[in-house]
Amino acid sequence: MSIMETLAARRTYRRFAQKPVPQDVVEDMVEALRLSSCGANRQAVKLVVVQSPEMVVKVHPLVKWAGYLPPEQGTPKADKQPVMYLAVVQDSAIPGDLNTDTGIALANITLAAWDKGVGSCIMGAINKPALSELLGIAEPDKLAFMVALGYPAHTAKVVPMTEETGIKYYLDEDRNYCVPKRSREELAREI
Ligand SMILES: Cc1cc2nc3c(=O)[nH]c(=O)nc-3n(C[C@H](O)[C@H](O)[C@H](O)COP(=O)(O)O)c2cc1C
Repeated sequence: MSIMETLAARRTYRRFAQKPVPQDVVEDMVEALRLSSCGANRQAVKLVVVQSPEMVVKVHPLVKWAGYLPPEQGTPKADKQPVMYLAVVQDSAIPGDLNTDTGIALANITLAAWDKGVGSCIMGAINKPALSELLGIAEPDKLAFMVALGYPAHTAKVVPMTEETGIKYYLDEDRNYCVPKRSREELAREI
């Protein structure tokens, strides 16, 4: 698959098959983080890999799904929950603005997973105090994001953004995600 095909198909997934993510994919995601560009080569973004079923179940109620959809549509039922999570952590003992580094790391990690068919949802709407306690994340480390992972149990496709759709993703009649994106002309100006 070309990088452009990968970028088109690597959407956000929110319902998953109950099948474990293989260890080689976990290793690829860690390697994708390790290889990420970062300001001044700080390497201050780290991961906690949450894989044990007992821990994964405890994380489920601490993340919030699909703000544009009613929960009965956007929140995965018990048999479609993610099978693992990554906690993305910033080491605040290392000086500098780590937010751009974190974004690049998130992109690389989710692309590495998708390259092997594993879908993801980057999650910012999370209960940081409760998750930090649960996962043993303590100063100077700060929890920035969770990433939910698993083999997708739905499809997701980009559709043109129109006046009718606006920016809000929606489900089609088969409960697959449609994600409106602005046109190239709206986003980039050539001079
Ligand atoms: C920084 C960031 C935070 C996000 N937080 C959440 C979240 O808390 N819950 C959720 O269901 N999706 C979350 N998403 C997924 C976005 O809703 C999704 O990326 C967006 O709708 C575009 O869809 P796409 O990734 O398929 O292009 C987040 C994505 C990003 C990049």
